[in-house]
Amino acid sequence: MPGCGISTWGQAMDNTLLSLKDVRAGYGPTQVLQGISLDVKAGERLALIGRNGVGKTTLLATIMGLTTLHGGSVSWEGKPISGLPPHKRAGLGLGLVPQTRDIFKSLTVEENLISGIRGDARLEEAYELFPRLKERRRNGGGQLSGGEQQMLAVARTLMGHPRLLMLDEPLEGLAPVICEMLMGVFERLASEGRTVILVEQHAEMALKFADRGVVLESGRVVHEAPAAALAKDGEVLGRYLGLGLVS
Ligand SMILES: Nc1ncnc2c1ncn2[C@@H]1O[C@H](COP(=O)(O)OP(=O)(O)OP(=O)(O)O)[C@@H](O)[C@H]1O
Ligand SMILES: [Mg+2]
Repeated sequence: MPGCGISTWGQAMDNTLLSLKDVRAGYGPTQVLQGISLDVKAGERLALIGRNGVGKTTLLATIMGLTTLHGGSVSWEGKPISGLPPHKRAGLGLGLVPQTRDIFKSLTVEENLISGIRGDARLEEAYELFPRLKERRRNGGGQLSGGEQQMLAVARTLMGHPRLLMLDEPLEGLAPVICEMLMGVFERLASEGRTVILVEQHAEMALKFADRGVVLESGRVVHEAPAAALAKDGEVLGRYLGLGLVS
């Protein structure tokens, strides 16, 4: 029943894919996230922004199950996943491209891609998205440029067929032409129906891409708004990012 909003059971349809409730998490005894509640809908594009060290990477890592959860809960399609290890979460459809671009430098491009395959994913999907990786498929991961390493990190995560793609500062340190190419790929992946959480220091690009922007500060969500409105909110951008208007 498209557009109706009522399920056959007479309840409001809820297309929430991921839900965090009062999440407190960190590294061992160190708590970084101070009570984060956040819902992400299927097909949504979320930009997660904030200054260095506010907890953006920790939040993505917590969603993936890579941190110590001190309290609160994480659920996926309404079911709790807080107790699941990262590989089980990957199996459910969560995918993270880490800020550190964790590719295997001693393996070839193709071997890196194979290491990420789940189910019926095919190498050609990655090569069609990133023709450059096909040209470099016999090269070692350590021989790639920064941009190629990022392409490989994204492609390897896509080999797991994630429904939620979490991208942690994918444009960091890359030339503008590579940033544009990658943003074009992310546009395509989102338009195919994937849910995307994009963490970026390039707030302008992130908010142009996203439907909604969420601002973090000291491990808390301090502001949330439609991305287009946030891009014009000089007061909020100035206070939490030290930026002027981004559009
Ligand atoms: N492995 C770790 N062990 C202990 N503390 C950590 C660890 N990784 C990060 N932290 C701390 O957690 C806090 C949040 O770091 P995090 O990397 O999540 O921030 P961020 O918003 O992603 O920053 P950036 O924009 O620099 O990537 C920081 O104070 C950081 O020092
Ligand atoms: Mg980070």
